[in-house]
Amino acid sequence: MQVRAGIFDSGVGGLTVAEALHRLAPSLPISYLADTAFFPYGNRTAEEVSGRALVLAQTLIAGGATVIVVACNTASSAALDRLRAELAVPVVGMEPPVKPAVERSRSRTVAVLATTGTVSGARLARLTEQHSGDATVITIAMPGLADLVEAGETASERVHTMLSDALREPVARGVDEVALGCTHYGFLRPTLTALLPAGVEVLDAAEPVARRVLAVMAEVGQDVPPGPPQEVLCYATGDAGLFEATIQRLRDGGAALPPLRVLRPVA
Ligand code: DGL
Repeated sequence: MQVRAGIFDSGVGGLTVAEALHRLAPSLPISYLADTAFFPYGNRTAEEVSGRALVLAQTLIAGGATVIVVACNTASSAALDRLRAELAVPVVGMEPPVKPAVERSRSRTVAVLATTGTVSGARLARLTEQHSGDATVITIAMPGLADLVEAGETASERVHTMLSDALREPVARGVDEVALGCTHYGFLRPTLTALLPAGVEVLDAAEPVARRVLAVMAEVGQDVPPGPPQEVLCYATGDAGLFEATIQRLRDGGAALPPLRVLRPVA
């Protein structure tokens, strides 16, 4: 059986998951679909995002994907149940790493940064209720932050100001774990680490999700083929040139990205 992981997000954010998956299984064929024509998801209704998620997953399956990875917290929150009900292949989603953040916190105070869509969704509320225990979980919506990353801005003055404004009070309240609830924010790790006090940890779910993808594939008998490292084949629903330019800006800014090729176009 020819296996292929199909990963999608609203833009470049899910490349953090593609990078982790490629690093763990370099010979696994991966297709990556960025729904840039509909970016950002964070400001859209759950119905809109769920409709897009289904179209994207079906496009990836038509292109040979044997497992779907929803590398977007907003889309996972809005569409995971629907995708699992309607698709014939395994679907792996993401959620903000609230559980590990709470487990690791010594101060019993953690912050979660996410899009407005994720912060207002039932999934994050449920997750927080399930895992917060005796800890205080401060959820912070960051409207506009993914947009800056999507433009390739990860260390600009604007990014710095937005993050330090949002985190000033949580840090004053003793937060020692910051959970990233949007895949775009994975690219902000160096900026976050620089502005947070020493000892505050930044957690993101990219690598745990990549491990989960490999575990799920193994469970259903999808063996990663041996062979040379593969390039991640990337498609964007919007302008492919703009998408490529963003990737170049991220690379220039030192972001960890897998070897990839941007192909064009998809409907
Ligand atoms: N990368 C997406 C997430 O993980 C959202 C970015 C957007 O607002 O489109 O939530």
